[in-house]
Amino acid sequence: MSLVTTTEMFKKAYDGGYAVGAFNVNNMEIVQGITEAAGELNSPVILQVSKGARAYANHTYLVKLVEAAVEENPQIPIALHLDHGDTFELCKSCIDGGFTSVMIDASSKSFEDNIALTKQVVEYAHAHGVVVEAELGTLAGIEDEVVVEAGKEAYTRPEEVEEFVDKTGCDSLAIAIGTSHGAYKFTAAQCTRNADGILVPPPLRFDVLEECIKRLPGFPIVLHGSSSVPQEFVKMVNQYGGNMPDAVGIPEEQLRQAAKLAVCKINIDSDIRLAMTGNIRKYFAEHPDHFDPRQYLKPARQAVKDMVAHKILHVLGSDGKA
Ligand code: G3H
Ligand code: 13P
Ligand code: ZN
Repeated sequence: MSLVTTTEMFKKAYDGGYAVGAFNVNNMEIVQGITEAAGELNSPVILQVSKGARAYANHTYLVKLVEAAVEENPQIPIALHLDHGDTFELCKSCIDGGFTSVMIDASSKSFEDNIALTKQVVEYAHAHGVVVEAELGTLAGIEDEVVVEAGKEAYTRPEEVEEFVDKTGCDSLAIAIGTSHGAYKFTAAQCTRNADGILVPPPLRFDVLEECIKRLPGFPIVLHGSSSVPQEFVKMVNQYGGNMPDAVGIPEEQLRQAAKLAVCKINIDSDIRLAMTGNIRKYFAEHPDHFDPRQYLKPARQAVKDMVAHKILHVLGSDGKA
């Protein structure tokens, strides 16, 4: 199988009550860890590249790494997606350069300007067989290189979604229902604490999601900022010299619930970063004399694989859906 768009993936996910994981890729170990897990579990998967990833690893290297993963895992559908494209030129460059899906994130602009830019990208993308994700509403955290403080985010307004999708022709829509980017999704003041002193975040706004679904029947919804920041990895980072106090994510059972509804794509990056960093810190602490990158990147790659397998089985429900 060669790289695919997300059209068929999303149709099957919508009808089947599961979501496809979209994992950010920045280097070979991450691409391998994700696709080995998806391949073994027979799951569709989306590999997504941010502007920052492109600047770090170079467009061509990332495309070739993903093409290698497609060759190694011919039994599963894999899409290559631009995450948070912020200009027409960036989207065009990815469309011309082999991506099968792009996101134009104009969510920090006015409703009218968001429509205009999204429509421009959709026209170019569709003429080249590429699909487009757009966004309405703003998440807390870092988006589009714009930092939105916790508490200053704006939930998607369900009364705007039909007009937006009609006027832009986008293929999927990211909405803001209380998820947020990064490992610190909420301030302590926004959370309660459980008996162990761990922060418990406010619940996702399923009322907003359900209102959007009513207005866009059959249409694929996307959730960004969907890492769960597992406390075992926060502990591992902190135990081996890191300093990540009060890191908190979205509870997995709420994401599983969203995946059963119209949410067809769930974005996860921070959990992969945490799993790699925790394991590399542990490795260095336990083997201070080692200096071969293959030695410490091997457990890091295995940690990515284990994390993605866990998400496929317990959050997304996409195992066996290739
Ligand atoms: O939404 C942001 C993703 O986690 C990508 O992050 O821009 O640092 O590559 P990045
Ligand atoms: P997390 O920071 O929660 O992993 O979100 C990633 C994301 O939304 C990428 O677009
Ligand atoms: Zn995002």
